[in-house]
Amino acid sequence: MVKPGEPRVLVAYGSKNGSTAEIAERIGEALSKAGCATSVYPAREVSGDVAAYDAVVLGGALYSGHWHRDARRLARRAGPQLGARPLWLFSSGPLDASAAERDIPPVRGVRRVAERLDARGHITFGGRLDEHAHGRTARMIVRAGKGGDFRDLDQITGWAELIARELLAARNGPGETEGT
Ligand SMILES: Cc1cc2nc3c(=O)[nH]c(=O)nc-3n(C[C@H](O)[C@H](O)[C@H](O)COP(=O)(O)O)c2cc1C
Repeated sequence: MVKPGEPRVLVAYGSKNGSTAEIAERIGEALSKAGCATSVYPAREVSGDVAAYDAVVLGGALYSGHWHRDARRLARRAGPQLGARPLWLFSSGPLDASAAERDIPPVRGVRRVAERLDARGHITFGGRLDEHAHGRTARMIVRAGKGGDFRDLDQITGWAELIARELLAARNGPGETEGT
């Protein structure tokens, strides 16, 4: 149930092997805890109509330099509405500690989406690859010892908290923001 005054936030994601889905769930939990009415869905289950939400977080796994197809397609399908509301994007992929250590800019396709839809922010989170992953290449990477779980849960939660803070500050007005 949405409490009066709570911003309604959609978290949608494209994921092949489940780790980006877990990141989205984590973001959803943090947003809910911070006072947003949050729904988390696979991007492919979201129609082009996101009018029921005040803000959207859209994320996708990276495969061969591209955002997951489901995230790309939702960005296209719901473009006009996404462009008209606060929007944040995330990518997940690097199979090393790099994403937790520094800001990794979006790949070209995601940068274009961010520009086109005037996204408020983008972040790249570390990825995960294990022996359950689909696909020959994935299994080869794991067998070569290059798999692992490089997601930083605190980083994910912290990013979601920043989003919540921004949404709630906008809703409460300048009188209610920190330091005023
Ligand atoms: C075939 C293949 C290609 C990948 N390409 C990239 C890439 O271009 N950039 C990147 O950062 N990570 C890449 N990764 C790592 C995945 O993005 C990472 O495993 C991610 O967590 C997968 O998300 P998912 O579990 O939601 O599908 C690749 C992984 C595989 C198996």
